[in-house]
Amino acid sequence: MLVSGGGTNLGALLAAHDDPAYGARVVGVVSSRGDAGGLERARAAGVPTAVVDPADFPDRTAWDEAVGRAVEVFDPQLVVLAGFMRLLGEPFLRRFGGRTLNTHPALLPSFPGLGGAAVRGALEHGVKLTGSTLHLIDEGTDTGPIVAQVAVPVEPGDTPEVLLERIKVAERAQLVEWVGRIAREGMRVEGRTVVVGGPAA
Ligand code: GRF
Repeated sequence: MLVSGGGTNLGALLAAHDDPAYGARVVGVVSSRGDAGGLERARAAGVPTAVVDPADFPDRTAWDEAVGRAVEVFDPQLVVLAGFMRLLGEPFLRRFGGRTLNTHPALLPSFPGLGGAAVRGALEHGVKLTGSTLHLIDEGTDTGPIVAQVAVPVEPGDTPEVLLERIKVAERAQLVEWVGRIAREGMRVEGRTVVVGGPAA
């Protein structure tokens, strides 16, 4: 799992993964920041961590390769980005493309980009429904094939902070549900369509 922030999504997965029936375990956490709250959550749960800070690398490609190496150590079947505040490029996608999920706090393709800006954008636009999108990453910003979406109403008087917290409740539940389903039932991608479970094509 890749995090840069508080790691409440990570916390939700950690709360689910001790149940063998869940089918998935968090095998490692990589952060782009040494002070990410998610690291503390991982350590408390006995999950190994690594920090790959862009400031320690000469350029984006070198950092991207280092993130790939750090993730590879954990030999994951699925990689989850939750609040990982950096776009991953070709070196990472070469290794983990097709099996890296990102969770985004808006109904894509509306309001892509950094989470805070996505929530503000939805509010400023005056939408009545927003939500969270779980999608596979590709080389674009929040453009990969969509795995699942959940709608969340915008209420009168919402501030970006209040709306984000409402979205994050739904987002965490969605992440836990779909990571478990993918682990138990498998996933395949047909063009832009992600199929979880069901007979192999
Ligand atoms: C989530 O809302 C995610 O969609 C966004 O950043 C937030 C991360 O939250 N990209 P947390 O660190 O898991 O609490």
